[in-house]
Amino acid sequence: MKGVVFTEFLDFVSEALGSDVADDIIDDADVPNGGAYTAVGTYPYTEMQALVTALSRRTGKPVPDLLTLFGRHLCRRFAVRYPEFFTVQTSLFDFLESVDAYIHREVHKLYPDAELPVFRLTRYGSDAIDLDYESCRPLEALAEGMIHGAADHFRQPVAIAKLRVEHPAGPFVRFSIKHAA
Ligand code: HEM
Repeated sequence: MKGVVFTEFLDFVSEALGSDVADDIIDDADVPNGGAYTAVGTYPYTEMQALVTALSRRTGKPVPDLLTLFGRHLCRRFAVRYPEFFTVQTSLFDFLESVDAYIHREVHKLYPDAELPVFRLTRYGSDAIDLDYESCRPLEALAEGMIHGAADHFRQPVAIAKLRVEHPAGPFVRFSIKHAA
């Protein structure tokens, strides 16, 4: 997993709960190098799991809730780090379509070792989409937070329903997203 996800995660913990808590979870998770991550490095995903599990123990909040909160934060941060991906789109649904069609492709060109999920988008009129998320990692709670973060960015509130689909070609998670009235 790319280091940018780790550095943003530790910033998220420090901002929300203080740098002491960030240090504590690094100790609890017993990750190598004392949690010294660089944004362009690549680290085992198991280290992210250990950090999130440690945060869950410290806060008493379930891992998926923490991942969704972090996803919202990460999307906000990406809008600051990579504004060009956000300014070319004027609506949430066009932006979400561009994640697979453009953004993650550009990320993959920059970092060929990035392991990116697949998103398939289907439109139902102008107010509803299905966004199917397929990944080797169970990070749908992170994806849900990022979708909410993007909805905040475009000031287009949405309602999201989530369904796990056991498909013969491989399981995926379907987000059914509607513009909220
Ligand atoms: C400017 C916008 C974005 C950038 C620059 C970006 C970049 C990245 C990068 C660098 C990773 C890490 C890959 C790795 O660990 O090897 C990643 C993973 C991920 N991205 Fe994006 N992303 C963006 C927007 C989004 C949005 C809006 C969503 C949700 C709809 C999303 C969903 C995810 C998820 C869920 C992962 C975790 C990996 C997985 O599920 O397998 N990303 N992205």
